[in-house]
Amino acid sequence: MDSPDTHRSQDFSSILEGRRTVRNFDRSAHIPRSELLGMLDEAVRAPSSVNMQPWRFLIIESEDARRRLLPLMRLNKRQTRDASDIIVIFGDLECYRQADTIYGQAAKRGILPGLMAKAQLAAIVPAYRAFTREKMTRVVHIDASLMAMQLMLVAREHGYDTNPIGGFEEDRIAETFGIDPNRYAPVIIIAIGKATKPGHDSYRLPARDLAWWDDAHGREPGEGGADDEADGIKRA
Ligand SMILES: Cc1cc2nc3c(=O)[nH]c(=O)nc-3n(C[C@H](O)[C@H](O)[C@H](O)COP(=O)(O)O)c2cc1C
Repeated sequence: MDSPDTHRSQDFSSILEGRRTVRNFDRSAHIPRSELLGMLDEAVRAPSSVNMQPWRFLIIESEDARRRLLPLMRLNKRQTRDASDIIVIFGDLECYRQADTIYGQAAKRGILPGLMAKAQLAAIVPAYRAFTREKMTRVVHIDASLMAMQLMLVAREHGYDTNPIGGFEEDRIAETFGIDPNRYAPVIIIAIGKATKPGHDSYRLPARDLAWWDDAHGREPGEGGADDEADGIKRA
């Protein structure tokens, strides 16, 4: 088996271009807990709204937990059985409870002047508390999704592959694992492990067909706007 560090320090473009959704994992591959936590520590360098870091992780390793998860997976049963770990990412709808720790640590470590930390806390926490459940759900989905993307790239750097999974019973997953469903909203599942089959390549719409330039004036994205000839761009 490769050592966990074999693939480290690949250049960014090879990580980016090499990532694929992998759906076949080596059932015998195990990721040490310390390495998994290390990957998560790298992934949580992701940005989050007011740095509230609302992502939380349910890490499914054991056969018993996989058995409980299986009926909640719409498809992707094989990955649930074979991936080294299944990481269910939740967003904490009461993430502001960590605000004192986050801003307090920032002040203690000299990252943020103490007075500024206090002022920011005084502004942010009441605002977050006042959010509707719907608004907070949106906030945590954005933050946790950015982190999840980062996790998938970090995994590649460690020589692992991932399958992001949105097809699961969102309404039942927290309770099934004894997690408070009123506080924690499931966002996405990331299956992670050693690929036994590479993922498929997939087509991407080119950015030029998706973009509005600010002179587009009511056109569809991709319809004109860019000065193709001046830019030396030829349309297909
Ligand atoms: C939010 C989200 C939900 C997804 N849900 C599933 C899923 O339920 N099952 C699955 O096999 N793949 C799922 N995928 C993977 C996509 O099918 C895959 O990312 C897409 O086809 C592009 O392929 P690539 O990841 O190899 O570039 C999901 C991806 C995202 C971003």
